[in-house]
Amino acid sequence: MVMVVLLLLCCGGLVLVVADESMAAGKGDGGCPGGDRQPLWVFGDSYADTGNLGNLGRELTHAWYDPYGRTFPRHPTGRFSDGRVLTDFVASAVGIPTPVAYKLRRRAPGDLLARGMNFAVGGSGVLDTGYFQRNISAQIDLFQKQLRGCAPTGVALVVVSGNDYSAVVDKNNGTGAAIAYIPTVVRGLREQLRRLRDDVGMRKVVVTNLHPMGCTPYFTRPLNYSGCDPLANAGADQHNAALRSVLDELDPANRTFLLLDLHTPFVAFVNDAAVNSSSSTTTRFPVRLRPCCVTSKADGYCGQQDDAGNRQYTVCDDPDRHFYWDDVHPTQAAWAAVAVAFTPAIHAFLST
Ligand SMILES: *[C@@H]1O[C@H](CO)[C@@H](O)[C@H](O)[C@H]1NC(C)=O
Ligand SMILES: *[C@@H]1O[C@H](CO)[C@@H](O)[C@H](O)[C@H]1NC(C)=O
Ligand SMILES: *[C@@H]1O[C@H](CO)[C@@H](O)[C@H](O)[C@H]1NC(C)=O
Ligand SMILES: *[C@@H]1O[C@H](CO)[C@@H](O)[C@H](O)[C@H]1NC(C)=O
Ligand SMILES: *[C@@H]1O[C@H](CO)[C@@H](O)[C@H](O)[C@H]1NC(C)=O
Repeated sequence: MVMVVLLLLCCGGLVLVVADESMAAGKGDGGCPGGDRQPLWVFGDSYADTGNLGNLGRELTHAWYDPYGRTFPRHPTGRFSDGRVLTDFVASAVGIPTPVAYKLRRRAPGDLLARGMNFAVGGSGVLDTGYFQRNISAQIDLFQKQLRGCAPTGVALVVVSGNDYSAVVDKNNGTGAAIAYIPTVVRGLREQLRRLRDDVGMRKVVVTNLHPMGCTPYFTRPLNYSGCDPLANAGADQHNAALRSVLDELDPANRTFLLLDLHTPFVAFVNDAAVNSSSSTTTRFPVRLRPCCVTSKADGYCGQQDDAGNRQYTVCDDPDRHFYWDDVHPTQAAWAAVAVAFTPAIHAFLST
């Protein structure tokens, strides 16, 4: 998720593109990607983006500016966190290095397709979000072009973190309108999942469920970080129930799709209703609802500067103690903790 973002365009060396794609194509069996490793193909939004959002300046694309990336790799890389994001941890669970971001593919080594590619871009959704980003369907189109007729191998990861809904809320339609939109979004997501399996030929697809959106600082800030927004959380629950029944109907034997549960570990770490003082999860993140990077203005953003270049935000001393990094995104430490919860499910799914 990202609040304000813009379109990215690719430009430059067609000859170079052709050259590195043919190098990549030379690696796998019969000129196709794959080989001895399990490639990972990623579709989705800023929870998964590792550099696909173009750098269009600090105001529009915060993730390319300080303090993003300060934990890892100690400079901004277009990841919406102080460090690694969901894609990095899923790749690690699959047992491969993080796949190259589509936008950065020309700078990557020739065997890049052997480990897949990340098409996810901050601000996108299942439907057009009004943030001018490539929706999931357009990301899958790009993937098909990269395959150039080859049958895909490996695993797809589909990450929908709520931009379809926050776009509705941002247009002042309110949380009620966002909830009314759930069936439309889930129906659209179902179509993209069906397409990945039936038209593209992916045999393994991991799809995330929705985190408790009402606990993100975007919602908790008006409450002075004292609690979560129950209506937004009810919406996430409803989205997740609808997605579960879509998968039950699409894939009754759980052969192709794994619904990767982000919601449960997020709730365990952040939701005040889940606080259990004797459980270790509550002490893992002493600061659960207040983000590490805090703006002084209510409508400000992490990384904001005034015209004279003075910072309009503060960064906590230790991001490791915070679950949230900015208004919508977890810290690297949070993703690492959530990954401990989901990694066994990925291992079990890939071993079948
Ligand atoms: C996704 O984006 C494509 C390309 O911009 C557009 O043609 C299509 O209508 C969009 N799909 C949805 C469901 O909004
Ligand atoms: C949001 O409100 C606008 C203006 O009232 C309306 O045209 C639009 O359909 C609404 N969108 C949703 C998803 O409810
Ligand atoms: C918000 O919480 C802080 C720290 O708990 C407290 O000092 C402040 O008075 C609160 N502000 C409001 C408006 O409740
Ligand atoms: C598929 O997975 C769901 C959710 O984990 C489970 O409820 C269901 O029983 C599984 N179905 C089969 C056939 O294993
Ligand atoms: C709190 O967590 C502990 C350890 O996980 C568990 O034994 C206990 O039942 C939990 N208490 C509540 C009220 O959930």
